[in-house]
Amino acid sequence: MITYLVTGCAGFIGTTFVHYMLAKYTDIRIINLDALTYAGNLENLKDIESDERHVFVHGNICDKELTASLIAKYDPDFIINFAAESHVDRSIAGPEIFVTTNVLGTVNLLQRAKDAWYDAGQKTWKKGKKFIQVSTDEVYGALGATGYFTETTPLDPHSPYSSSKASADLFVKAFHDTYKMPVNITRCSNNYGMWQFPEKLIPLMINNARNHKKLPVYGDGMQIRDWLYVEDHCKAIDMVAQGGIDGEVYNIGGHNERPNIFIVKTIIAQLAERLKDPQINESLIEHVEDRLGHDRRYGIDPAKIKSDLGWYPETTFETGIVKTIDWYLANQEWMDRVTSGEYQKYYETMYADRERLGDK
Ligand code: NAD
Ligand code: DAU
Repeated sequence: MITYLVTGCAGFIGTTFVHYMLAKYTDIRIINLDALTYAGNLENLKDIESDERHVFVHGNICDKELTASLIAKYDPDFIINFAAESHVDRSIAGPEIFVTTNVLGTVNLLQRAKDAWYDAGQKTWKKGKKFIQVSTDEVYGALGATGYFTETTPLDPHSPYSSSKASADLFVKAFHDTYKMPVNITRCSNNYGMWQFPEKLIPLMINNARNHKKLPVYGDGMQIRDWLYVEDHCKAIDMVAQGGIDGEVYNIGGHNERPNIFIVKTIIAQLAERLKDPQINESLIEHVEDRLGHDRRYGIDPAKIKSDLGWYPETTFETGIVKTIDWYLANQEWMDRVTSGEYQKYYETMYADRERLGDK
């Protein structure tokens, strides 16, 4: 049996990863460590509550004793670190927690894994162990109109979020370069799918449009993101765990670059058609003050993971966006619960004072 210590699995991608792995393999055990911040939601894991292959632990990746004891108790073959503060706008408003969780939390996990897996006298590692850091394309900074991020593109993060992720990546690299720790780093483009917290573009726009609220498009809306269906990201992480060469970085993306305004208009058209609601139309779009330091374009070159590991994306954007919209429509109660209470305050703080830019 293979044991995974996976962090952050009450969040968007981690939740999908646990479901993906439990559906794919029978002989595995997943220890899921999550602090249940605003982005963590145990409701996402309700259907696997009684599955003995999944053990949920409520705790923080910065907690030395807890992480050491989990590694000692369960002896994981893989540690996969999804846990993070993940929203760029929040990092602009308050960077400190991004350093604590994304940098110090990652270093703590590396150090606890090293304590358990490394024989300092022999300078050897226990066989079959690996640490996987789930990173992001944002560490590469922004592209101009042409070209793609490859694994050798220099790190050039701009936001506090991407700087914290780049910093964590460098610590993972340092543990490999210094101690020969078996590690991989994955850098994926923008994910979309079910269970995503509605602070992010796609679920936020779905929720607002459904409620006939304004759709706040930052700046001219021509910023480009490279969208990947979340299950394809999870498939890639599984393949990197199984076949990734120690010390290597793998970019993950499906060449699906779209301007933000295209995404918003697609959501409007799909929702209007599904709900037969004429009030859902493009007049809801409101161009607002741009994000500070907003990266103009991301685009991943996935050639390495395709050629070395045989990965390819299975879900086209056309299929994935419809599946995603259908899921949010079928799970309105989930949306209502996560957008009650604290979310209202967040929305007020983040959007109420944003300057309206008028028609573009
Ligand atoms: P998310 O914000 O939805 O979930 C993060 C999870 O981490 C939550 O469950 C939260 O409770 C948990 N967490 C936060 N701080 C913690 C701590 N100190 N200890 C333990 N758990 C903690 O994020 P996501 O979108 O699922 O992203 C997961 C990972 O993937 C992140 O590392 C992110 O940088 C990376 N990533 C995300 C995307 C994307 O498009 N969402 C793309 C590429 C990479
Ligand atoms: O590229 C990978 C990254 O993708 C991950 O590392 C991050 O964790 C994840 O949050 C995501 O970052 P982005 O900043 O690209 O995602 P977000 O959904 O916040 O925004 C997508 C684009 O939409 C971005 O150009 C900003 C814009 N936007 C976003 C929101 C929330 C708007 O125009 N209006 C909005 O209200």
